[in-house]
Amino acid sequence: MRSLTIPHPSKGDLVSNIGIGCMRFGSDVENTEKAVLAALESGYNFFDHADIYGRGECERTFAEVLKRNSKITENMVIQSKCGIVPGERFDFSYEHITSSVDGILQRLGLDMIDGLLLHRPDILCEPDEVARAFDDLEKSGKVRWFGVSNHTPLQIELLKKSVEQPIVVNQIELSLKALRAFNEGIDFNRQGEFATTMGILDYCQLNNILIQAWSPLAGASFTPGREEVPTEEIEGTAVMEQLCKKYDCMPAAIKVAWLLRHPSNMQVIIGSVNAERIQAAAEGSDIRLTRDEWYQLYIAARGKRLP
Ligand SMILES: NC(=O)c1ccc[n+]([C@@H]2O[C@H](COP(=O)([O-])OP(=O)(O)OC[C@H]3O[C@@H](n4cnc5c(N)ncnc54)[C@H](OP(=O)(O)O)[C@@H]3O)[C@@H](O)[C@H]2O)c1
Repeated sequence: MRSLTIPHPSKGDLVSNIGIGCMRFGSDVENTEKAVLAALESGYNFFDHADIYGRGECERTFAEVLKRNSKITENMVIQSKCGIVPGERFDFSYEHITSSVDGILQRLGLDMIDGLLLHRPDILCEPDEVARAFDDLEKSGKVRWFGVSNHTPLQIELLKKSVEQPIVVNQIELSLKALRAFNEGIDFNRQGEFATTMGILDYCQLNNILIQAWSPLAGASFTPGREEVPTEEIEGTAVMEQLCKKYDCMPAAIKVAWLLRHPSNMQVIIGSVNAERIQAAAEGSDIRLTRDEWYQLYIAARGKRLP
């Protein structure tokens, strides 16, 4: 599997361009162990957590897998997220960020995580508070580098006003079912269309921020052979079938290859807990779709012609 570097001036980690999202790990240690070992065998070394996944259960289950396989952390790069109190609030206060990291480390059974992302923008974000939290977390050695998730360019700029550490990652939703960040660049001046992600793909490339695509497979969408194909997926599913035949691979690999074809050199965070699908998706790292193939899938998924 190809790798890329987390764009940090001094601490850039070499990571697989497809990572494993741990949101669906739950409490099944056996199955999680199978998934993690299959991932490592296929060349994945990057694991994405959040304090809220399974209300902490996913991090605990992952820790059990690490305990059973003591050496596997050596080449792993582990990231987690904080800043959401489910159903109640977003919280970028100093106390919340620092205590969340303590909880993450305790559940994972680690002294340090490589990356920490702020999970969703906090409307009451005070950049000075975030800066104080990041400084302490860096000084204490608990977190090596920092990033955000679901942030717009201006929200990142606002943080940069106070935060001294580089913001090196922005994790956003991108898939054949979540096209907004691609669409807006060509639709922004058309009637009835809004540029809602405000140029996030261009901004991240300009500012050396690694884009992580979350929910890249979008479940079983565009998978050939389903009994019922939603009307809006008929055309895309037909294109997917042709591409799977041509490249002799599963849809998961084509979905990954489609995102990796974007010149931003993004990292794709898949959420499968199925060892076979994890292995199948890894093949996407070696497939380079042609420009025509990329656009065929894009136009079919977007459901309307190009402007
Ligand atoms: N930052 C954020 O706000 C945010 C939000 C959501 C997620 N995330 C991150 O992104 C990661 C991935 O998210 P995700 O799990 O939604 O992503 P995903 O990779 O798009 O979807 C994975 C899910 O789709 C299923 N699936 C894939 N192909 C399928 C097929 N052909 N038939 C049936 N089921 C299929 C998988 O089942 P199997 O397990 O059977 O393969 C799994 O349940 C998460 O783990 C998390 O780390 C971040």
